[in-house]
Amino acid sequence: MTTLVTGGTGTVGSQVVVRLAALGQPVRVLTRSAEKAATLPEGVTGLLGALAEPSTLGAAFEGVERLFLLTPLAQDEVDQGLAGIEAAREAGVGRIVFMSVHHADQAPQIPHFASKVEIARGLERSGIPYTVIEPNSFYQNDLGLQQPLMEFGVYPMPLGSVGLHRVDVRDIADAAVAALTKDGHQGEHYPVVGPELCTGEGSAQAWAAALGSGVIYAGDDLDAWSLAASAMMPDWLVADLRVMFEHFQERGLLATADDFTRQRGLIGREPIGFDRFATEAAAIWKSQVAGA
Ligand SMILES: NC(=O)c1ccc[n+]([C@@H]2O[C@H](COP(=O)([O-])OP(=O)(O)OC[C@H]3O[C@@H](n4cnc5c(N)ncnc54)[C@H](OP(=O)(O)O)[C@@H]3O)[C@@H](O)[C@H]2O)c1
Repeated sequence: MTTLVTGGTGTVGSQVVVRLAALGQPVRVLTRSAEKAATLPEGVTGLLGALAEPSTLGAAFEGVERLFLLTPLAQDEVDQGLAGIEAAREAGVGRIVFMSVHHADQAPQIPHFASKVEIARGLERSGIPYTVIEPNSFYQNDLGLQQPLMEFGVYPMPLGSVGLHRVDVRDIADAAVAALTKDGHQGEHYPVVGPELCTGEGSAQAWAAALGSGVIYAGDDLDAWSLAASAMMPDWLVADLRVMFEHFQERGLLATADDFTRQRGLIGREPIGFDRFATEAAAIWKSQVAGA
């Protein structure tokens, strides 16, 4: 039962790939990079291509029975997602698990949330059996914050004070693999969330405890965040994420009791807490600094 993973070299997809390979399942990864294809885990096949270039998809999809469809943050994300679904239809893929975003339908003003809703509609129209997983904000986004946290003692993610039920990527991968490999999830949308609310101040405190050093929250100023982000990402992405942070500051991204029940039904255990994630990351960072 061959599974194709798009985004299989990235944060979530790479964890999905490792889990499927550990189950002894044939796994393919669609990648734009020959270099990344050459360094995939043992037994995993890399196929060169991109959702953004539909003419490259035929060979990658040939003989594929299951698809983990992860679309990148891109201005043409909807076209990429729909191209993946069309390639799956042409290849006779029997099951698609698509990764959306938690409560994507409640914030259509955020471009990459709206894109996910559009792609999920395309899935419905396709007639292919599908499951949608809807993760909250990833804990692992904070792995890019080693320098501000350790050198400046600042937590710069403008999460606000309402809170988000952020989630560990390992739980997202477990949810994806359960939906890909077990029956009974067809047509379902599953939230994938963490156990507690993460706020800006609370995250700073959790990092301070994990690092054993002072960390302050940089605050909710989105002009300051946009200015700093402009040095690292294109304008369209800064604008998209700014609208997202505005939404988080006003409304949060909250799980309901029903979300937790449904998630437990899919992954069969409680999700990983932020403290555990931060403690593990801080230990790695501290050992890197000690070894440098
Ligand atoms: N970060 C969050 O908190 C969060 C929460 C919920 C949902 N999401 C959604 O998660 C998705 C991203 O997942 P991820 O973080 O696991 O992905 P990622 O680490 O950014 O990796 C995405 C992969 O997609 C491939 N890719 C193809 N076209 C690309 C492009 N134009 N730009 C960047 N990568 C491209 C790359 O693989 P190759 O280089 O090998 O081709 C890359 O490894 C997005 O749809 C996002 O909206 C994110």
